[in-house]
Amino acid sequence: MKTTLERAAALLLPIALFATPLSAKDRDHDDQRQNAYERGRYLVIAGGCNDCHTPGYAESAGTLPDYQWLTGNPVGFQGPWGVSYPVNLRLLVQSITEEQWLGYVRSPMLPPMPWFNLRDMHDRDLRAIYRFIRALGPAGQPAPEPVAPGQPVNTPYIDFMPKNLPAAMQ
Ligand code: HEC
Repeated sequence: MKTTLERAAALLLPIALFATPLSAKDRDHDDQRQNAYERGRYLVIAGGCNDCHTPGYAESAGTLPDYQWLTGNPVGFQGPWGVSYPVNLRLLVQSITEEQWLGYVRSPMLPPMPWFNLRDMHDRDLRAIYRFIRALGPAGQPAPEPVAPGQPVNTPYIDFMPKNLPAAMQ
């Protein structure tokens, strides 16, 4: 005994096959072009880019509007690397090409930037992220330059060093 759903599927399947003459590759390409913006937006959210690159995003539990996203953070992260600042990506993407972006995001960066996660992303996802951020347009000020270890720090920063480690973990 077939369920209504199975009957509907049996009816619709031939129609679906007939209605999609594009090859899987073509469809994928088409999909990619139409959805680059939405895909990029999704990857930025799921990839956690706002957590560091958007001031106030975490505090708002992820409810800040898109136009406030990724403007960089003047509050640094301090560790053995000195102090690093989440870069203003809204300005960065306006100043480099999509090809340059692919190189940038795959090069080692200071902690806590999880650059190795971007290194392992597919080109098309990285391109979608670039296009999304670029479409948001330029906004905000450049983040401060990183500070070398032992140099004076003139900005607020978060101490990113683990505390209270047992001797075996030091
Ligand atoms: C845990 C915090 C954190 C997260 C999460 C994070 N970043 Fe970063 N990001 C940083 C910091 C800090 C820097 C500065 C690193 C440096 O100075 O080398 C940075 C630098 C960058 C740069 C380099 C800019 C330049 O001019 O060299 C890019 C590009 C970038 N981040 C993209 C992203 C993207 C895309 C995501 C999400 C997939 C992301 N980041 C997630 C903290 C973070």
